[in-house]
Amino acid sequence: MHLAFVLGTRPEIIKLSSLITACVRDGLPYTLIHTNQHYAAAMDRMFFEEFGLPSAHFNLGVGSAPAGVQLGRMMLGIEPVLQEMKPDCVIVQGDTNSALAGGLAASKAGIPVAHVEAGLRSFDRSMPEETNRILLDHLASSWFCPSPLQVELLAREGIRGPDVHITGNTGNDATLHYSQLAVERSNIHDSLGLRHEGYLLLTCHRPSNTDDPEHFAQLMHAVQRLAEERELQVVFPVHPRLGQRNWEVLRNKSRIRTIDPVGYLDMLALLQGAALVLTDSGGMQEEACVLRRCCLILRPNTERPESLETGGAKLVSSVAEDALIEAAQELERSQVVWKNPFGDGKAYRQILEALHKQLSPRGC
Ligand code: UD1
Ligand code: UDP
Repeated sequence: MHLAFVLGTRPEIIKLSSLITACVRDGLPYTLIHTNQHYAAAMDRMFFEEFGLPSAHFNLGVGSAPAGVQLGRMMLGIEPVLQEMKPDCVIVQGDTNSALAGGLAASKAGIPVAHVEAGLRSFDRSMPEETNRILLDHLASSWFCPSPLQVELLAREGIRGPDVHITGNTGNDATLHYSQLAVERSNIHDSLGLRHEGYLLLTCHRPSNTDDPEHFAQLMHAVQRLAEERELQVVFPVHPRLGQRNWEVLRNKSRIRTIDPVGYLDMLALLQGAALVLTDSGGMQEEACVLRRCCLILRPNTERPESLETGGAKLVSSVAEDALIEAAQELERSQVVWKNPFGDGKAYRQILEALHKQLSPRGC
């Protein structure tokens, strides 16, 4: 069984790390294709180093571009690699343009596509990721769902059968594997002078929050108000998509402390010490839940409703001045029953076993 992975962004490196590590450890033949959709060292190389991942066999150097151009360049790069390497299956994770390009290129080449983190739906077609994940699920031939919910959602779209699996999430594999190590090894609290629960942790990179500077300004004003009310500072590792005009907005926000994107261990340490997490990130919604941190999700909807069910997370779409103060108070009043709905931290093992069974009869 020869597997090919196509990845390109920070979260894909994190969430495919358990699978790639298992291939290396078990001596399974694999090919790693990196589109370089993310290319800054702090979005890319830092994670390969932290996880001890071998370099990609193929770096396509695609970088940033409008979606159509980016997808086209990715497919131009992936197709000849698949023709040369002839993998038995292409594994893609999640909902990025890199994942879609990997899935499309494989499908056109007649190679089975395995979709990790299958079946998630926000039902919000304005999100580029929603289209990507729907398309990927409809061209895949094996589906690895975090929980029973996604099996149900796929069935509603006619996708069912023995190749739909509930495995838990590979993002959770990484969280459970590294969370204790993060506490032991990260010195981010000391280097930033942070005390346990003495700060709010913010990340914000979705187009719906960052593309319109007026919206971003209102959102950051609401964050500043919450921080003032709590007498806490906000630590904000900034994603590179934040444009110049948004940076201007942050200039006069005295409570919001911007920092460069951090490595995974530092992020897990920051999450575990935060008084409250504010995020529009998919991965961080899950991590906050697994690490038992209350979380305001800065979006009107989520494709990850599992954390809402614990009572420890809340959607906030309003950018009204006191919206976050009120939401944080509601969260404090709610009965939180923490659980980890994302698996046992060994999703990678179940995925590899299922693929082995599925692909073996074809003589792979
Ligand atoms: C992408 C994914 C999103 C995911 C996010 C993870 C799509 C459609 N979106 O969004 O689902 O949540 O990655 O972080 O695939 N940039 C840099 N350096 C980099 C990377 C990006 O400066 O290394 C800047 C560029 O200005 C670029 C912008 O960020 O235009 C957006 O990058 P892009 O990869 O297109 O989308 P993300 O917003 O990162
Ligand atoms: N992350 C990180 N450093 C940062 C910001 C995020 O290590 O400065 C991690 C985070 O813990 C999670 C993943 O990156 O595992 C989420 O990536 P991102 O928010 O970019 O994408 P999304 O999950 O929204 O697709």
